[in-house]
This record gives sequence, C-alpha cells and structure tokens, in this order.
Amino acid sequence: MSLKLFDQEVFQLIREEEKRQKNTLDLIASENYASQATIEAQASILANKLAEGYIGKRLCAGCEVIDKIEKLAIERAKALFGAEHVNIQCLSATQANIAVYSALLDHGDAVLAPKLSHGGHFSHGSPRHISGKSYRFFHYGVSTQNEQIDIEEVEKIALEKRPKLIIAGMSAYPRKIEFSQFRKVTDKVGALLLADIAHVVGLIIANLHPHPVPHADVVTSSTHKTFRGPRGCGIIMCRKEFGAAIDEAVFPGNQGAPVMNIIASRAILLKEAMSPDFTRYQMQVLENARVLAEGLASHGIRLVSGGTDTHLILIDLRQLGLNGNEVESLLYSVGIATNKNLIPFDEKPPHITSGVRLGTAALTTRGMKRPEMEKIGTLIARVLLNPANESELLKVQKESLSLARKFPLFSNDWI
Ligand SMILES: Cc1ncc(COP(=O)(O)O)c(C=O)c1O
Repeated sequence: MSLKLFDQEVFQLIREEEKRQKNTLDLIASENYASQATIEAQASILANKLAEGYIGKRLCAGCEVIDKIEKLAIERAKALFGAEHVNIQCLSATQANIAVYSALLDHGDAVLAPKLSHGGHFSHGSPRHISGKSYRFFHYGVSTQNEQIDIEEVEKIALEKRPKLIIAGMSAYPRKIEFSQFRKVTDKVGALLLADIAHVVGLIIANLHPHPVPHADVVTSSTHKTFRGPRGCGIIMCRKEFGAAIDEAVFPGNQGAPVMNIIASRAILLKEAMSPDFTRYQMQVLENARVLAEGLASHGIRLVSGGTDTHLILIDLRQLGLNGNEVESLLYSVGIATNKNLIPFDEKPPHITSGVRLGTAALTTRGMKRPEMEKIGTLIARVLLNPANESELLKVQKESLSLARKFPLFSNDWI
C-alpha cells in the first residue's frame, strides 16, 4: 500500500517539508539538494538487504548483486579521487572519523586537530565526543591577525606535543586548506595526516581547492554538502597499507551492516561527480560565494578572514550588536535559513555565538547565479541593519519568498 493511502499523517508532513524547502532560501552550508536519481536509489528495494561484511565475505546469503553495487561505488571513488583504498560503508562522516582513530591510534595517543571554536568539528576531539574521551587531543586555532590557519603555529604545537595524528579540515573555515603544508609538519614530527574534507569535497573534485590525496595518509568525507549526495554516509580513502585496518575498524569495529540503498545512491553520486556539469556547478558555487561575500561586505558587514575562497562565509555580528542565535531566528523569519556559529575568539557560548555561517551549495543547485546572490546579499543586509523594523522585515520576507518560488528544487540545469 502506498504511503499516501496508509499513513496520511506522515504523508502530509513530508508534503509540508517539501513546501518549506521550496519556499526557503537555504544558505545552510552543510545542506544541498540531492538529485532525483540519487534519491530514487535511496527509496529502492535495496533498503531491504542485509549485507554485513565486505565484498565476497558477507555474513549472509544473497549478496551477489549487492557486491556488484559496492564494487562499482568503490571503483568510481578510487577513480574520482585517485585513492589507493576506499571504504564506502560508514554511516556518517563522524563514524568515518571514529573508525580512522580506532584504526590508527591506541587509547590515550596524542592528536592535533583544529579547534572547534575556530571552525573545527566536534568529532575532532570535543570533550563531549568519544574522540575527546578516548585520545589526548590538542588543538590549533587561526591567527589573531588574519583569522586564517597559521601553519607555523601548527608546527610549533606539533613539535611540542608530538601527536601521532594531525587533522586538517574544518566545518566553518572559509579559506582554502593547504594539505601540502600540513604534510610537511607531519613529516617533521613523524605523525600521520588525516584530511577531513566533508565540506570542501565538491570543490576538490572540481580542482577548485587543493587536493588532499597526494599528501594525506587518510581522507574522510561526507557526501551531502558540496558533494550534493545522500546523507547517512561517510567515505574513507587511504593509502593501501592502512586499508585492512580501516576496513576492520569500520566493520566489525564500529558499526554493523552497511545501508545498501545509500551505497547505491553514493555510486550514482560518484558518476554525477565525474561529469563536466558537476565541475560547472562547483565553479558556480564558488562564484556565488564570492558575489555574496562581496555584497555583504559592501554593506559594511564584517566577514571572518575578510571573505571566502570556498562555498562558505562566516559573518561576524559583533559590530552590529547582534548575536548568532537571534540572527539565525531573524533570518529564518524572513525565509532565509542559516546557522548560528562560533567565530574565532568568540566570547559568547556555543548556543548564542557571535556569528552566522552561510554556504552557497544548495541555492546554486536550484540554479541561482550572480543576480540572485547580489539580491540575497542585500536582503540579508537589510535584515541585519534593521533588525527591529517590522515593516522592512515584512518586505524582505515577501521578496525572499518570491525569489525562492522562481527556482524549483530539482533544476535540470545541473543534473
Ligand atoms: C569537517 C566535518 N567533518 C565531519 C562532519 C560530520 O559529518 P556527518 O554529519 O556526516 O557525521 C562534518 C559535518 O558537519 C564536518 O563539517
């Protein structure tokens, strides 16, 4: 029986969410709209299949088709990234990071990672995360001068703490990460290098951001941000020598059966990412971020590090006398979705923050380009500069809704 006939409540809620997505300008940097083909695979019969284990070594019968799907996804990932070994089974990028730690480290080993409050991720040693409870994490931040990574500072901490693993890759950092510089540091202190490319992976595929594979021992990624694929997914790529340990750490070390409908969806995504359209899309993501950043700055809004060279922009709200929590709500009330975010050297707590993070991956998928980004920059500025002006907010809300409605969720331009 169809969902519509069987469960009107859930059916209607899904319709409600569809309407919300259509009517909202989504600038949440870790969201995107996966293609129809990848969503079709997610909702396919593959969802029924148990497939614990790896290709040719499953714990149950009937995996001959599943094996072909997983092999295809792995081969495509190897070709796309130039990786020696790929594990495609992780249930999220957080799980991927946990698996990497358990494959490469012993309990109590030292790790050097980006600071959460300067744009890192909680799976990089937050005291509330299992990584922070299991290993001795030390953190590097960005420089006070330009709010960018200071590799000399990273090296100084590495020489002092002698980590076994150094992590490069962040969640809220608008600038390029030079993996080759991190490699020099890891070589100097005899550490391994993990590149966590969850955010910038799409730009990397399109050669618009430095590539980690020649430099890092292990690379982890999600697939739903700039990559524009399914959620519930982490990919691990590594040198051949770490392959067996990584596979063992994923299964049975940290999780059970893989989710085969998502693995099929990933295989489709990898094919999409090989097309020239994907490169065109990533170029537009970058161009859109630049235009949006310039627009905001032209209204006197301060951006962390002065701008962006990725899909991501971090606004510093301190001079406006506003905080991230209220701006996230204010922008959402006019139909613009963002997220509050700590900025480097923030004095506010994480549930308040002094910043908001924006990203252009989702709206670029909807087909928006320079004119729309210029418009959105002005809309955001009007909200930030008139936060208590009800009639202005109402006007912005109408304009943002009208803009959103002009761009369908599934744009044939890109896919
Ligand atoms: C740098 C980085 N690593 C890992 C993750 C975790 O991704 P997931 O939500 O798939 O666990 C994120 C998510 O925001 C991230 O930004």
